[in-house]
Amino acid sequence: MLCSLVIKPLNVLRRKFLKMFTLGFLAAILAQCHRGHKRLHRKITLGELAGFQNPVVPLPMLRLAVLRDSRGFRVVSMVCTHQTCLLAVNRELTGFSCPCHNSSFNLSGEVLKGPAKEPLSFYRLELDSNGKLVADLAEKVSSDWHLTL
Ligand code: FES
Repeated sequence: MLCSLVIKPLNVLRRKFLKMFTLGFLAAILAQCHRGHKRLHRKITLGELAGFQNPVVPLPMLRLAVLRDSRGFRVVSMVCTHQTCLLAVNRELTGFSCPCHNSSFNLSGEVLKGPAKEPLSFYRLELDSNGKLVADLAEKVSSDWHLTL
């Protein structure tokens, strides 16, 4: 009787400890995978330079758009800063509009109309040895930064 009074609480404690240990271990593995995934996908090849001759080339699958003007090339996020909806290029090719709550942004990423308050993010672009544009999503740049060729 006395023995079962002592052993039962110990079994409960042991189960709780094993559960906590297992959850902690899994959380550590998931965190490491997430870090590796982010590092792996930091640079994204967008495509041949010849494919980006229009002023705005949306890449909705990547949630990015390549912009081209007289100063060179830029890449901007097409993720709305309000609640992360995918933006659409407006008909006049002068900016982006959000289908969710109608925020709009110009080609410098500035908010023209809310509810979004934060500007869009721009990332460093480079040309690889095969003549392809590569976006470095780990490196944010100002909206004025251009890849000049
Ligand atoms: S998510 Fe774009 S305006 Fe709300």
